[in-house]
Amino acid sequence: MRKVLNIRAALVLLSCMMVLSCDRHRNMAGYDFMPDMVYSQAYDAYSENPVFRDSLSNQVPVYGTMPRNQVAFRYNVFPENRLLAGQTLLSREQMIMKHVFEGKKLYTTFCSNCHGESGKGDGFLITSKKFPETVKVGNLTDERLVKASRGELFHVLTVGYGLMGSYGATLSEMDRWKIIEYVKVKLQGQELGARTLAGFNPALSEAYEDFEARIAKDFERTNGVGPVTSVSLGPLNQAWVSEGEALFKAKCSSCHKPTKKYVGPAPLGVLDRRNPAWIINMILDPEKMVKEDPVAKELLNRYLAPMANQSLKEDEARKILEYFRTLE
Ligand code: HEC
Ligand code: HEC
Repeated sequence: MRKVLNIRAALVLLSCMMVLSCDRHRNMAGYDFMPDMVYSQAYDAYSENPVFRDSLSNQVPVYGTMPRNQVAFRYNVFPENRLLAGQTLLSREQMIMKHVFEGKKLYTTFCSNCHGESGKGDGFLITSKKFPETVKVGNLTDERLVKASRGELFHVLTVGYGLMGSYGATLSEMDRWKIIEYVKVKLQGQELGARTLAGFNPALSEAYEDFEARIAKDFERTNGVGPVTSVSLGPLNQAWVSEGEALFKAKCSSCHKPTKKYVGPAPLGVLDRRNPAWIINMILDPEKMVKEDPVAKELLNRYLAPMANQSLKEDEARKILEYFRTLE
């Protein structure tokens, strides 16, 4: 008896569903039972976005954060950093033939469309003239790049080079090393896993982590470029603090807010990031600093707008520094 009832119930349900799913005009899809799951509420990557203050959906990652497993890369795109990277960077793992084969796959996916299978620059995007003819991809097997160390190529892949974009965010560190090993061994015919090359400085061959730690210290130590080489801080001078604050309001507040990022970085905590002499030199001659000092160069890279020279005297800059000491 129960079975029969169940079958009947099922039949009734089925016919109800059939009736419901019939529609007189066929250009209507019928009912959405859960519309919020059918239609995505997500913003498109390049659409305008009312949620964020700058109206962009694609947000830059918070400064100082990075995805899991990513390693900080302290060399920006400047050529001297490429050379430095070339002299100091080695893959953390010893490369073996397996890596070369894996590198080949990655190369085919990520590089051969421009550089060609042979590396000579005859990739499809070039031969099909999808790029203007003025774009030259260069030949990965030419003398200059055969001489370039693996670290230099790592720099090229990580931050990009000229017209070529960067792969720092697309390819993991290890994948970049694998591609490089493939280029070196198969395209350039070099020895596998050779960790040194012409121009290599053994004094700089410290482990990657040690190098990272040292360079972080160098950044703390640097005085920047300018007349000031040391500053003694001593106990807080209240008179200077108020004079410094007034100067800051008059000369700097168009670009700096004391505790918030604005056109330039917030001075809050600047004494933890930089040496006091560096700060004074930056205030005295920012143009020289962004040209010659590596930290200031990186800052300019990040903030894009250059800092304006306010023609302050050294003692005025020192008073502003005193005011910075009181920020919290
Ligand atoms: C969309 C096209 C394109 C892709 C994809 C591409 N490159 Fe390039 N690559 C270029 C161009 C263009 C240049 C030359 C840039 C210049 O001279 O301004 C270049 C230059 C280079 C250089 C030479 C740097 C020098 O000093 O001359 C190397 C090395 C290199 N690419 C490696 C790679 C590797 C490895 C990949 C794959 C991860 C790759 N490229 C993917 C377009 C591309
Ligand atoms: C025209 C806008 C502008 C003015 C005016 C300006 N700055 Fe800057 N400041 C910047 C920018 C932008 C940076 C980031 C470096 C760069 O892009 O060159 C910066 C960087 C700095 C830094 C380094 C901060 C860090 O985190 O390392 C200090 C210190 C500084 N400014 C202090 C001052 C002081 C003091 C004044 C006033 C005398 C001042 N600035 C006036 C725009 C300005």
